[in-house]
Amino acid sequence: MITVTLRIRRTAGNYTLHTVSVPEGSYVIDAIERVFAQPDSRLVWRHACHHASCGSCGLRINGRECLPCITPLSEYDLSRPITLEPLDHFPQIADLVVDFSPFYERMQAIGMPLIREDETRPEGVPMPLLRFENCIECGLCVSACPAMRNGRFLGPAALAAAERLLEEPRGADRDRVRALVDTQDGVWGCRSSYQCTAVCPMGVDPAGSIIRLRARLLQQA
Ligand code: SF4
Ligand code: FES
Repeated sequence: MITVTLRIRRTAGNYTLHTVSVPEGSYVIDAIERVFAQPDSRLVWRHACHHASCGSCGLRINGRECLPCITPLSEYDLSRPITLEPLDHFPQIADLVVDFSPFYERMQAIGMPLIREDETRPEGVPMPLLRFENCIECGLCVSACPAMRNGRFLGPAALAAAERLLEEPRGADRDRVRALVDTQDGVWGCRSSYQCTAVCPMGVDPAGSIIRLRARLLQQA
């Protein structure tokens, strides 16, 4: 067993320390679960799949955006506390949980989720989970993006989705998407820090999408 101390940012803005034991080879999520199991921790956090599929567990770990379910504890110096904070640029709901509404609103403004004609269902039959390519909508790119300090910036995930829509619109209105992204709150608001691409756990490369979108818009100007 290994001993880990987590320093967790709480709703009130304070940090609490929690020391737990987990088996060798554990991931950050395993240590969080041990803290959650302590009745007096009252920790609020979110997770589901445990394998980088649901996108719900994203956090900042020692200041870096990560999915704790695929981040081994062996990456850290365990003689010091590991600091866990909620994602940046999202409203905090409680402890490590943030409100994803602004993220989904931006994705919807672009035209996601894409629904092909053969994917429509009779009324009352739920739609399958539809996502843009391999983006798991974890929000890590948004948290890492310095341009998100402008609260109107569309953000890396939505702009990556826009590039995909312009490539293969599947019925989406290309002119409407172009008009949304060809703005200061769209591709021209990106500061080219590449932090979005650096933290994306799925290799989506939103920064590359933004660069290609700029080139596409300039060619069409
Ligand atoms: S582009 Fe990558 S980092 Fe951004 S939401 Fe999608 S999977 Fe997460
Ligand atoms: S628990 Fe689903 S992505 Fe981490």
